Amino acid sequence: MLRITDACKTFLKGTVNEHTALDRLSLSLGEGEFVTVIGSNGAGKSTLFNAIGGTFLLDHGTIELEGKDITFLPEHKRAIMIGRLFQDPLKGSAPDMTIEENLALAYSRKKGNPLRRGVRRCDTEFFREEITRFGMGLEERMKTKVGLLSGGQRQALSLLMSTIGKPRLLLLDEHTAALDPASAEKVMQITKDIVSRERLTTMMITHNIQSALKTGTRTIMMDRGRIILDISGEERAQMTVSRLMELYTRHSNAVFDNDRMLLSESGEQGG
Ligand SMILES: Nc1ncnc2c1ncn2[C@@H]1O[C@H](COP(=O)(O)OP(=O)(O)O)[C@@H](O)[C@H]1O
Ligand SMILES: [Mg+2]
Repeated sequence: MLRITDACKTFLKGTVNEHTALDRLSLSLGEGEFVTVIGSNGAGKSTLFNAIGGTFLLDHGTIELEGKDITFLPEHKRAIMIGRLFQDPLKGSAPDMTIEENLALAYSRKKGNPLRRGVRRCDTEFFREEITRFGMGLEERMKTKVGLLSGGQRQALSLLMSTIGKPRLLLLDEHTAALDPASAEKVMQITKDIVSRERLTTMMITHNIQSALKTGTRTIMMDRGRIILDISGEERAQMTVSRLMELYTRHSNAVFDNDRMLLSESGEQGG
């Protein structure tokens, strides 16, 4: 359903800071796959998502989504098919608009409809039902301005906003990394619920290697703009954090540089 072929992206070409962030990367995703993405800082994980989402165009290579070549499709057109979430909980929603208005905006955008004033009653009910599933009590605050919500509440809302139009692909870029542990856990649970209920094809970048191995159906590890490991099924089920680190070190002759890396397999986090 997603096919990336020979993707190349070099930033600041021709300058002393020239950096190849994607290096002939190829990747193929099947319908309904949930892929977790790990790798050192600067490995090119966010660049890969930005390339898929259309933040910039590739220097070389192609991207196909459901058989359609989207390599040159502008970002706003890709946004109809691709839901995205970022680390910053403030990024996905408008603080001066209510929960309901934010959802209405996301809903109309994803459906490719022009924005209408106000929120239709039938949509209100639908939004309420959806948000009730979170078990955060947000359904009682539909007319609250989003700027008053906590980071976790806001990220949960952003998650609903980016999936309410049933995107073909969902890209999550460390979307729980800026939250306190309890909120991160909650948002991760909501993520799993939505992904499985809507059967969304999903890619999720995480610095939590343990969680990367436990969440979803497949894990890829990136290094210097390439995919150096791609595991699923039994191989993934048997994989441990230390074995993964070992494979990384062997491949790159470097120590895994992840400033918030998961240090132990018991779930303790560094940084
Ligand atoms: N817009 C940009 N301009 C210049 N360099 C960039 C840009 N985006 C990313 N880079 C560089 O590309 C490399 C990969 O970055 P990124 O994809 O953000 O890594 P990560 O795997 O940590 O998400 C880094 O060296 C980063 O500095
Ligand atoms: Mg990143």
